[in-house]
Amino acid sequence: MLSMHAIKVEKLDKKFGDFKALDGMDLVVRKGEVYGLLGPNGAGKTTAIKVLTGLLKKTSGDAEVLGVTIPNKDITQKIGYMPQETALYIGLTVHQNLEFFGKLFGMDKAKILERETELLKFIDLEKWRDELVANLSGGMKHRVSLACALIHEPEVLFLDEPTVGVDPELRVSFWNFFSKLKEKGITILITTHYMDEASHCDRVGFMRSGKLIAEGEPQAMLKEAGATSLEDAFLFFARRDRT
Ligand SMILES: Nc1ncnc2c1ncn2[C@@H]1O[C@H](COP(=O)(O)OP(=O)(O)OP(=O)(O)O)[C@@H](O)[C@H]1O
Ligand SMILES: [Mg+2]
Repeated sequence: MLSMHAIKVEKLDKKFGDFKALDGMDLVVRKGEVYGLLGPNGAGKTTAIKVLTGLLKKTSGDAEVLGVTIPNKDITQKIGYMPQETALYIGLTVHQNLEFFGKLFGMDKAKILERETELLKFIDLEKWRDELVANLSGGMKHRVSLACALIHEPEVLFLDEPTVGVDPELRVSFWNFFSKLKEKGITILITTHYMDEASHCDRVGFMRSGKLIAEGEPQAMLKEAGATSLEDAFLFFARRDRT
């Protein structure tokens, strides 16, 4: 099925017991867009990503990725996911981790090696290829985690706080890389608490209590809120939502 949208969510609910982590969430992310999901701790950002990547089952509502209703096994090949808690095998080397994720996606050895060379160059860890992940610093682990999410050349990339604990210089290079991925037509849904990063997104969506309360281009959001920072804009929209 052809779809203009990379991600489409309608009236999405996710309950944990009686608690609604997602409460009628609506979201549309266009193909090739970098969309930033912002919101306080517990707003439901990670839950939304987990439903969209098929890791959590929705309670009700609709969720589609690339025109396919989630969960769907065939779509997982086209999805890349960098979890908030890095999910690497620390007893394996960098190379073995990349190989593991490549095999998981059915890639052959030659293709994995080709992608590995490219990705290790980007994350600047070529020298660390045969080092155990356990021996890497936190920021290095983040870089490996990003490479693992990209090994199979996904069309839609979910990045859950990919730059937490990453030094400023590396954060800049992460964002340069995200722009390169965007140029290739890859869609990115990213969560972050760094508002300076959010301004790099094509559009941002503010989440609160399991739903989207406002969205738009960063500059337009500032204008609408009469704010000079996205933090202040969030407070404006949160207040408006409550009344
Ligand atoms: N497996 C679970 N069981 C019960 N409650 C859960 C579960 N996973 C998440 N929640 C709850 O759902 C709410 C949303 O959590 P979620 O992790 O999606 O927030 P978040 O927006 O990603 O926050 P953060 O910015 O801290 O990462 C929280 O109140 C959390 O406690
Ligand atoms: Mg989270």
